[in-house]
Amino acid sequence: MTDQTGMLSQEGFIKANNQTLKLGELSPEYIRACRDAATEGIVLLENKGVLPLLVDAKLSVFGRIQYDYFYVSYGSGGDVKKPYAISLMDGLKANPHFNLNDKLNEIYEKWCAKNIPDEGEWGTWPTHFEEMPLNDALVKEAAAMSDVALVVIGRSAGEDRESLLAPGSFYLTDSELEMLNLVTDHFDQVVVLIDAGNTIDLSWVKNYGDKIDALLYAWQGGMESGNAVADILSGAVSPSGKLTSTIAQHYEDYPTARNFGGEVFNNYAEDIYVGYRYFETFAKEVVLYPFGYGLSYTAFSASLAEPITVDANQVLVPIKVTNKGKVPGKHVVQVYYSAPQGVLGKPAVELAGFTKTSLLAPDESEVVMITFDKTLMASYDDAGKTGHKSAWVLEAGDYEILLGGDVRRVEPIGKVTVEALKICEQLTEAVAVEPAHAFDRLVASQAADGRFVQAWEKTPVRTVNLKERILANLPAQIATTEADLHFDDVVSGKITIKDFVATLNMDELEALTRGDYIMNSPLGAPGNAGTFGGVIKSLRDKGVVPITTSDGPSGLRLQYESALLPCGTALASTWNLPLLKELATFQGAELTEKGTEVLLAPGMNIMRDPLCGRNFEYFSEDPILTGHVATAMVQGLQTYGNSACPKHFACNNQEKFRNTHDSRLSERALREIYLKGFEICIKESNPKNLMTAYNKINGVWGHYHYELCMTILRGEWGYLGNIVTDWWMQEAVDPDFELLTNDAYRIRAGVDVLMPGGKHFAATAGDGSLLESYEKGGITLAEIQRTAVTVLKFVLHVRKGKKVRTT
Ligand code: BGC
Repeated sequence: MTDQTGMLSQEGFIKANNQTLKLGELSPEYIRACRDAATEGIVLLENKGVLPLLVDAKLSVFGRIQYDYFYVSYGSGGDVKKPYAISLMDGLKANPHFNLNDKLNEIYEKWCAKNIPDEGEWGTWPTHFEEMPLNDALVKEAAAMSDVALVVIGRSAGEDRESLLAPGSFYLTDSELEMLNLVTDHFDQVVVLIDAGNTIDLSWVKNYGDKIDALLYAWQGGMESGNAVADILSGAVSPSGKLTSTIAQHYEDYPTARNFGGEVFNNYAEDIYVGYRYFETFAKEVVLYPFGYGLSYTAFSASLAEPITVDANQVLVPIKVTNKGKVPGKHVVQVYYSAPQGVLGKPAVELAGFTKTSLLAPDESEVVMITFDKTLMASYDDAGKTGHKSAWVLEAGDYEILLGGDVRRVEPIGKVTVEALKICEQLTEAVAVEPAHAFDRLVASQAADGRFVQAWEKTPVRTVNLKERILANLPAQIATTEADLHFDDVVSGKITIKDFVATLNMDELEALTRGDYIMNSPLGAPGNAGTFGGVIKSLRDKGVVPITTSDGPSGLRLQYESALLPCGTALASTWNLPLLKELATFQGAELTEKGTEVLLAPGMNIMRDPLCGRNFEYFSEDPILTGHVATAMVQGLQTYGNSACPKHFACNNQEKFRNTHDSRLSERALREIYLKGFEICIKESNPKNLMTAYNKINGVWGHYHYELCMTILRGEWGYLGNIVTDWWMQEAVDPDFELLTNDAYRIRAGVDVLMPGGKHFAATAGDGSLLESYEKGGITLAEIQRTAVTVLKFVLHVRKGKKVRTT
């Protein structure tokens, strides 16, 4: 119930927070956007002609999930008090298209009413619900009175733990297999629907051969789940969702499988070859469904509308798409590139850009433009192989541009030639592997016949002296004054934030570096995740308001009823950025209505391994898609003056041992894969808050990571916003500065606010506190002031007034 600091833990918070309050209705437009996103996120993996279902087809639905649907998975990214939820059966019943086998429904309904699933507690939630046992006679009878069977399989994942390589989690249970066996034995037409936030094993599909006629991956569609599935099954909407990660035949086929789940560390030995970057380069044959894959009820042609234009900075690819089929639909245009191998070695193919067409009627065409920076195709040379260590470089050669229906079905449509090695950006080494932790990483080389060959080399290791780097960049102090200033004068522009900070005493400065100690702070909306800013009276008296933060990626986790959005993976599977921005804009307005300034979302870690418990919150194995989806969400969320808080910066790619585990990876993999999405999002959408990760990254916890936060995020990318910790943090002494412990260590690293705050870290002298460090000559006043300025910039933004939605 409590964590090591004596505070209420997440588990305790959930229990204490079980009261539901109601505040206004969701608008029909918001609900519509939730439904559209859930519908467009559904991926059709197989269809042998059975879908869409004919209007008079009698449908038997198997699987308890039809009633006990998983609308989202568990944890801070799922714990939303939804006003309602449309189960699969609700959605089918509400839609006159469906002619349901009522007798079977009734059997399931009664059984489900008697077997209410236990949803467990924090970290021990169910991964599945045990199936209703079936027998041959029951299925035979259902088959005799209906034309098509729909079998539903449900899975849930969750925070603080991983999916397991066990039946009921990554694998099917015996009773699910029995259900599939019986149904495929008796029915001529069988549709299988997966309701899961994470990917699960699908190797069983081929065992059924032609007996499975259609397969849909519906993800978890939030409160509109059932309506969304009904829209696809009925054909009211043609499927247009595409996979955002590769589905391989077996778990062991994933390049991360041998380096995942460690308590102390994992070596990211696959380096940049994550997801399709690995499979398309080295192991095409083990892929069941490639990245970007998804079927439609119609057919599209796509080709270059005009030649590709390449100017000094950008590549512009105009694509003409025509709906060649018989029903209206949307098409995702995917543009990839294939870089020359050079001396660095590159994945065979990488995503450059994408867009979704509007709804095209049969024979209708549209020309879309995919634009990307040339530098997107650059590689980061962390070893100096090109002669330019720590630089983004474009190696000489032809960069083939490919048009794809998915990553596998690509065709060349042009090329960008780089005549000689081009240095795109010279940076400095940061976050390299500790010399004592060097490991072998995967690199590609190409044989004479064009095949890619796996090779291994030692990761380059750290050569810079962090202590010197920090000391060379300490900020200048703001001269203190005695004046009694009010923040109102900052709001009116009479004085600057720095003028105001110059007058704050140490108690006030300290209070700005941490939250109000507890989740569900009395200073914020009921059920909040914590508050920061004006957390002590003297600050509030001076006009510094408290800032409320609330989870999370699938909806507002408050005591108020709030919209439950589709899970992150479902959102990304739409590949529809304007739709996501629109949806997030509604959510941005909901934040204001429910008294929250910072939504702790989007979750945007890379899906490195299919077992990661929080993959359902995340977008993709690909950083470019992740970055663009996060950008759309942040832009929408911030429309009305509130703030997003992308998380978890960075490499929070596993849940179990997330507080102890060290993600060890090369600087190249870090920058090309794990930071790239954040970089795109920061530069294009300017989130006003950002959350660090629990784990270590090359030996340093996210909340103490100077090089991640100061060198890269602020220094290279120009981030000016506030950085908050993930909830609570690990106690530690700065290895370079022994007078810096806990908060002082964190503040020197540029991490502004400890959330939700921790009693243990309060400013009482003699316990490794901030004040003690300051008084002993450790942390400088200038650094504490720097944090105060950053926090107050956001307070000023809030004080200047949030905009009210008028449309
Ligand atoms: C999660 C964060 C979440 C925070 C507040 C942590 O356990 O990792 O994603 O925002 O709690 O609930």
